[in-house]
Amino acid sequence: MKSIDELKIAICSDHAGYELKIRLIEFINSKNVKELKDFGAFTAESSDYPDYAHPMASAVENQDYDFGISICGTGNGISMTVNKHAGIRAALCWTPEIARLARLHNNANVLSLPARFVSFEEACEMVDVFFSTDFEGGRHQRRIDKISC
Ligand code: RB5
Repeated sequence: MKSIDELKIAICSDHAGYELKIRLIEFINSKNVKELKDFGAFTAESSDYPDYAHPMASAVENQDYDFGISICGTGNGISMTVNKHAGIRAALCWTPEIARLARLHNNANVLSLPARFVSFEEACEMVDVFFSTDFEGGRHQRRIDKISC
């Protein structure tokens, strides 16, 4: 696993995830990430998560970015949206252990967070573990290969 100072990360949210996203951007930048691009929303006014989720997912899918973070109120709508992209495996996470297993077993490339159901401290822990855990491969690669329909 590359260290965070070698990673290019894309991030997006809707209005419900906006405040958590802004705080996470500050947290991630303090770790000297190679690049962190915010795909919106750029205000806390009511907005539609697909408007930001699709461009962010395309950027990860095109390998312009190594990983993505997507945030909405429950994490569900935005992860449903990014998972429409063939190259995206977004994992909805609400504990650090789920975030760890999302990398270890699912080779997730997008961390989806439910802003209304996790604290800032919990989100920071999930970011830390997600971006420091490698995919285990082996039997999990075989299962991932069977996901597409
Ligand atoms: C916005 O109110 C909310 O519906 C949205 O952030 C998300 O939770 C949808 O899945």
